[in-house]
Amino acid sequence: MVFNEKIQNLRIINKSLLWIKALNMKLLNETNLNGKTVLLRVDLNVPVKGKKIADQSKIVLIKQTVAQLLKKNNKVFLLSHFGRPKGEVLPSLSLKSLSNQIEKILGMGRVIFLDNFINQSKMEKDSIIDKGDIFLLENIRFHKEEEENDENFSKKLSECFDVYINDSFSASHRTHASVVGITKFLPSYAGLLFEKELKNLKRYVENPRRPCLAIIGGSKVSTKISLIKNIIIKLDYLVIGGGMANTFLAADGFQVGSSRIEKNYFNEIYNLKKIAIKHNCKIILPVDALSSVSLKNAKRVRNCELNNILKKESIFDIGDASINEIVKIISEVQTVLWNGPLGAFEYAPFDKSTKDIAKHLSKCSRRNNLDVIVGGGDTLAALKDIDVIKNFTYVSTSGGAFLHYLEGKSLPGIKALK
Ligand code: 3PG
Repeated sequence: MVFNEKIQNLRIINKSLLWIKALNMKLLNETNLNGKTVLLRVDLNVPVKGKKIADQSKIVLIKQTVAQLLKKNNKVFLLSHFGRPKGEVLPSLSLKSLSNQIEKILGMGRVIFLDNFINQSKMEKDSIIDKGDIFLLENIRFHKEEEENDENFSKKLSECFDVYINDSFSASHRTHASVVGITKFLPSYAGLLFEKELKNLKRYVENPRRPCLAIIGGSKVSTKISLIKNIIIKLDYLVIGGGMANTFLAADGFQVGSSRIEKNYFNEIYNLKKIAIKHNCKIILPVDALSSVSLKNAKRVRNCELNNILKKESIFDIGDASINEIVKIISEVQTVLWNGPLGAFEYAPFDKSTKDIAKHLSKCSRRNNLDVIVGGGDTLAALKDIDVIKNFTYVSTSGGAFLHYLEGKSLPGIKALK
């Protein structure tokens, strides 16, 4: 990296630090909590296959915060949601069966699982606190008051704790009791992971090095249009992929066979194109496609030009020429923001473009000093079998919260920590 670039990067880091200060948020990093009983909101909403945690990333990422708290003799009570039980007690969504695995992944001693801590009396709670150092509370979404952000529930939740730390940036788009309400009743801090997510989003999304390319995939225009509108002013190139590219192509008059499209978004797309021209952002659509009659157990998959899709076929991935086009653009930019798979990655061979581009970005990120920022649940799920994520500049494990941030929406979890 040349000297000037280093200086520029340092300036950007300093700017993002200043911005966090400007938020007026108390950070765990800047406090010296000692001997406290801490309610630590984390995100243990992990993918599970046959009772085994399929991806440990979310647990590995909170280790730093837990370790820092334990080092200073604090008691740590892990609190998380798991799935969306909507206030019902569903055994399949209990955190109990994950407790031993979480204990192993954390590797910091015994984790005591508590299935009804919140409803216990103050005396009972006090006696439990003496029994260990790390505790895991049952799925907070088993209480309907959680999603209602119920004030009395938040108060009850705070009972017996000295402080609250939010280390689940990924839940900060939710106005829930354990994210928002609780901060009324306890001194509240942002944990190390929360702080890191915010700094990186500020640094790479708000102030990307230019030229900047965004690769936006996913199945529907409707779920990504406000995100695109919000970030387009920071972009030099915008690649549209995934199922939503079919709607863009159809809006341009291409025949897309039986592909699912959202006709009612054509006008939004025309408006977006006008905004792109105004801000000098080039929109890149696929120039070819992988098409087939069926998605699952696909036979007779064709890599064909756009004017060649048969009526009974659907487009399930972008084709080789489109991949080459994206590779060419990547060589011209300094930042790549990526959200959403480029094809129907769950079904081979329609995972090809997503994996090819991921491997290419991984190489460029290491060799060419390219900033590669990836986020969103589906994007990470698409890349889980290929060992590339570690080479990206920044990977956000936040799904919905990452999207909310990119859409420019205010996140209640951030606001509550102010
Ligand atoms: C996530 O996986 O993105 C977070 O855990 C948030 O989950 P939610 O969308 O169910 O609130």
